[in-house]
Amino acid sequence: MRKVTLTLGFATTLFLSFLFLSNASFGASDEELIRKASAVLGPLPASMPSEQNPITPEKVKLGKILYYESRISVDGTVSCSRCHPISLYAADGLRKSIGNRCKENPRNDPTVFNAASQIAEHWIGNRTSVEDQAKQALLGPPSFGMPSYASVEKILRSFKDYQTMFKQAFPEDKEPVTADNFAKAVGAFERTLVTPAPFDSFLKGDKSALDDKQKSGLGTFMDAGCSGCHSSPFVGGQMYQKFGIFEPYWKYTKSKKIDVGRFAVTKNESDKYFFKVPVLRNVAKTPPYFHDGSVDHLEDAIRIMGKIQLGKDLTQKQIDDIAAFLDSLTGKIPEDVLTVPVLPTKE
Ligand code: HEC
Ligand code: HEC
Repeated sequence: MRKVTLTLGFATTLFLSFLFLSNASFGASDEELIRKASAVLGPLPASMPSEQNPITPEKVKLGKILYYESRISVDGTVSCSRCHPISLYAADGLRKSIGNRCKENPRNDPTVFNAASQIAEHWIGNRTSVEDQAKQALLGPPSFGMPSYASVEKILRSFKDYQTMFKQAFPEDKEPVTADNFAKAVGAFERTLVTPAPFDSFLKGDKSALDDKQKSGLGTFMDAGCSGCHSSPFVGGQMYQKFGIFEPYWKYTKSKKIDVGRFAVTKNESDKYFFKVPVLRNVAKTPPYFHDGSVDHLEDAIRIMGKIQLGKDLTQKQIDDIAAFLDSLTGKIPEDVLTVPVLPTKE
């Protein structure tokens, strides 16, 4: 009898210590994952500030209104919101965006959320900042298509309410209604567009914010080498890389046209097929994928990345886990961004 009790006691101790150990190691691996992910990725900041264009409430308010303004386009139909609708996570879901008079843009449109802290804007980095991007969009032939900045300014100045709002946003300026200030106001609005996600809660210590599949996917994302390029709290946007390091990208993407990428900007042979590593925040919400929108499903985009960026055939489980992790980057659109502003009318 005594022997049985002892054996039972021993078994219980063993079982309990097993439970304790496995729990402990489970806890430790969460800690380890948070430590590793904080080093290469990290939680989103509250906004994306700029010294050249400080964020003020007046600029943000005006910028949000201008984001919806289509009367400053050549055919009166084009606004930022047309191609970056907030309700679709600020991307349009088309392979290539359609601008004034149904003109097709050369590339797919990335989301405007979490976009303002990149090394540059656009897939090939031919816009230096969100302000530069916003200003040049006004004259872009497949975008607003306006003939000159003066023509945009003339329209804006014809609205009394815009005169008042520009004055409030740029009190120092003698003539505040300018294309530059349009760009600064829209840019300031964009600089507030951050969408914190379950991944950020996880990094801040809420271990239940990600499920096991997402945690495994995060581990794979880092161990397989994805985060070598898709780094920073934005999970991208910090460097240019060749699309197709191991094999040409068009073998896998079904691209109809071959895009030379950053070569078009620098004319350096070594920049051929280089593109900006895109931000992967909200990527699950912004298909289709790649610079030409040639791939419809996130799983396919992940498989292709493994194959041609890392020379790896990822297993289906690895792909599914990474997709689950990427979904944990789907953030909450701030309430005040979700509301649509009323635009000025002429008296
Ligand atoms: C006709 C559709 C269209 C309109 C209108 C438009 N965009 Fe875009 N936007 C695009 C496309 C397409 C790209 C990608 C261009 C490229 O990389 O060649 C883009 C890229 C961007 C980017 C760069 C994102 C990144 O990650 O590189 C930002 C920021 C942006 N747009 C903001 C705006 C703002 C602000 C407006 C209004 C002033 C605007 N866009 C108007 C289609 C549009
Ligand atoms: C060597 C750098 C590099 C590595 C490693 C890398 N990527 Fe990329 N990734 C890029 C570049 C560059 C693009 C843009 C390709 C293009 O021009 O469309 C991209 C695009 C993507 C896209 C499409 C995003 C969009 O909005 O269209 C996804 C998703 C993606 N990568 C996920 C991954 C995953 C998952 C891994 C790891 C398996 C990975 N990447 C590894 C450089 C890299």
